[in-house]
Amino acid sequence: MSTDLLEKTKGRVSSSHVVGKALEHDSAQKHVSGKATYVDDIIEPHGTLHVAPGYEADAVCGRITKVDLSAVRGAPGVVAVLDASDIPGVNDCSPVAGDDPVLATDRIVFHGQLIFLVVAETRLQARKAARLAHIEVEEETPLVSVADALKAEQTVLPDYEFRRGSPEQTIAQSELTLKSRLEMGGQEHFYLEGQVAFAFPGEDGDMLVQSSTQHPTEVQHTVAKVLGLDDGAVTVEVRRMGGAFGGKEAQANQWAALAALAAHATGRPCKCRLDRDDDMILTGKRHDFMVDLAAGYDGSGKIEAVQIDLHSRCGCSADLSLGINDRAMFHSDNSYYYPQVLIRSKRLKTNTVSNTAFRGFGGPQGMLSCERLMDGIAIQLGLDPLDVRKANFYREDANTTPYGQSVDEYDVLAKLVDQLERSSDYRARRKAVEAFNADNTVLKKGIALTPVKFGIAFTLTHLNQAGALLHLYRDGSVHLNHGGTEMGQGLYQKVAQIAATEMGVSLSKVKITATNTSKVANTSPTAASSGADLNGMATAIACREIVGRLKTFAAGHFEVSEEDITLRDDQMLIGGEPKLSIKALAHLAYEHRIQMSSSGFYKTPEIVWDRAQVKGHPFLYYAYGASCSEVVIDTLTGEMKVERVDVLHDVGTSLNPALDMGQIEGGFVQGMGWLTTEELWFDKAGHLKTHAPSTYKIPTASDVPEIFNVALYESEGNPAPTIYRSKAVGEPPLMLPISVFCAINDAISSLNKGVLPKLDAPATPEAILKAVKAIKAGEGA
Ligand code: MTE
Ligand code: MOS
Repeated sequence: MSTDLLEKTKGRVSSSHVVGKALEHDSAQKHVSGKATYVDDIIEPHGTLHVAPGYEADAVCGRITKVDLSAVRGAPGVVAVLDASDIPGVNDCSPVAGDDPVLATDRIVFHGQLIFLVVAETRLQARKAARLAHIEVEEETPLVSVADALKAEQTVLPDYEFRRGSPEQTIAQSELTLKSRLEMGGQEHFYLEGQVAFAFPGEDGDMLVQSSTQHPTEVQHTVAKVLGLDDGAVTVEVRRMGGAFGGKEAQANQWAALAALAAHATGRPCKCRLDRDDDMILTGKRHDFMVDLAAGYDGSGKIEAVQIDLHSRCGCSADLSLGINDRAMFHSDNSYYYPQVLIRSKRLKTNTVSNTAFRGFGGPQGMLSCERLMDGIAIQLGLDPLDVRKANFYREDANTTPYGQSVDEYDVLAKLVDQLERSSDYRARRKAVEAFNADNTVLKKGIALTPVKFGIAFTLTHLNQAGALLHLYRDGSVHLNHGGTEMGQGLYQKVAQIAATEMGVSLSKVKITATNTSKVANTSPTAASSGADLNGMATAIACREIVGRLKTFAAGHFEVSEEDITLRDDQMLIGGEPKLSIKALAHLAYEHRIQMSSSGFYKTPEIVWDRAQVKGHPFLYYAYGASCSEVVIDTLTGEMKVERVDVLHDVGTSLNPALDMGQIEGGFVQGMGWLTTEELWFDKAGHLKTHAPSTYKIPTASDVPEIFNVALYESEGNPAPTIYRSKAVGEPPLMLPISVFCAINDAISSLNKGVLPKLDAPATPEAILKAVKAIKAGEGA
């Protein structure tokens, strides 16, 4: 973390105008000292029981012919063993489609699918007992890979396409064409805190659930549906998650449902916390894709027509695959104008765990696809890939995306990339890389500079709404609540900074409180990077309501005009002169019976998207960034090292530069993991073999590039009407390390110029070595 950026203001922020200040995360001290309360840290009431999931150890798919749980029931400490027949309501925990049973009944469709649950006095007893089941499955041949599902023509959702012109014909007639296939792996979320939920039964069947979820409202609905209760009988609370990254957007539902089902059956508090291996086997991941690319272009590398066929592995059910695959399509242009284009998406059904949201929500997969095109064209023409990228950037007379939205800020892209090209010294380093490669036979270097353009808004338009609840107490302190959840990204702090600024109180007077469905109802998930955009604005609206009432009251009481009153730095000022403290004002207003609580509601303006007609303006704006990476590979071992990274990223007017830098650095490293070290490997029978950190390698501190220059792009702020003209930052940086992948590609390409390396993602040492071998034999992608 860039500590030099942090303003050492904690505890002595005197001004209430704290928006834009580089303050540390509100829980930073608690995170590192172990005092932050996660679900598993909540003190267990007397009588708490523990839930373990039960599944057949080996079977992948087929009809269940026998379930004998007698040994499970007889195991030490076991209080209850439940199956689908114990569900009083609906046996479903899917986000939309109704196709994810909480507990399987007659069939299983992927390895690890739950059939029963064990409730025991201790967690260990529950887990040990769960292994004693005797289950028989009449196994069928599973569809595991994208290729399997393509052959069997199995999809979870209908195909979808964007089209402009007749790219097939144009490509067929083009003098210069490129055809390539790219495969890219999925990604395990590897949140440090695994999936967990703790259910507390109340009177009349009511249920309170403490859940590690990005979507408390959906957990509320799921628990109510499964237990056959009204939504009003279920309350879900989440103070914080120990990371989520999309993995707790839809997939926290099931564990909350299990805990609640157990609590309902036993009348005791029940906790369900997954073991890490179970978490990796039983929960969905980033979708892996196989992409077929074709393009026709001119001698300068300018694209005339493009065809992109996206095939994704969705797993056994729909989950959030509709939005995720749409977003892959929305980002298959990245920053480039395609005069004629066809983007098609196939959402394949396999007998693997249902894939789900992961930072970028399909965007990264779309973006990587078109960057392969840029590299391919540059290699075929012998041009610098950066020049081919620039030749294709959206520009004034060519700024319409394949889905019809115009890119109004096309100039930001050009400016930002130019600035990074200079600050990273790209051209000189390109020459140095070439000189190095001429002198070295074993080690080869590569460099790449790639842009990111990421659309901000939920593409499901109705999700673009948020609520907040504010109380001003008589002592001048503020209670802040909103529908957004905290997963480490710093949303709570950003929104608290907004509340302090709006209310005119110091930040220490703003009490951050846990997200709770009984305070703010009907919330959207904290996702699509829109947490601060939505909840920040809803909070500002609530604050302005209270401030407005206070001003009206004070104007009458002190016989001054409302315009002369300001609330700032814990004071009420009249005509710029301090009159009384906000504490005294609050007390006075209370005595005069002024309501000092308010809710705030915000819906994003300007966005419309008609999916059926492929028409509209799905995004409020785009977030931009670019990065330049230099790598060195060992052509004998396939090892790779990232030597230097330069990033320039646009966050509009930053709400908090320290938190934004944290998101950019963290997102970069996580994306680098996706593209270089993290490999999900299923055997042919459909078992995930990489289900622990021993076999699945996420980046560690030592993988952070030695030289890592990250800067925020200076701008006049977001032209779109966002809160304090800021831009969302949660997901876009994950796509910055595409430059690492392209730099590896560049290094391999130096071995046989003119041939596009057959490099798939992740570019593990093994994949690099394979691509090196192939290119030496003259084989391209
Ligand atoms: N940062 C941390 N530390 N932990 C997380 O789980 N999730 C990411 C991103 N940054 C995540 C994170 C994802 S997937 C999203 S959509 C956004 O944060 C959500 O938060 P925001 O909307 O407040 O940016
Ligand atoms: Mo983020 S993938 O939108 O939760």
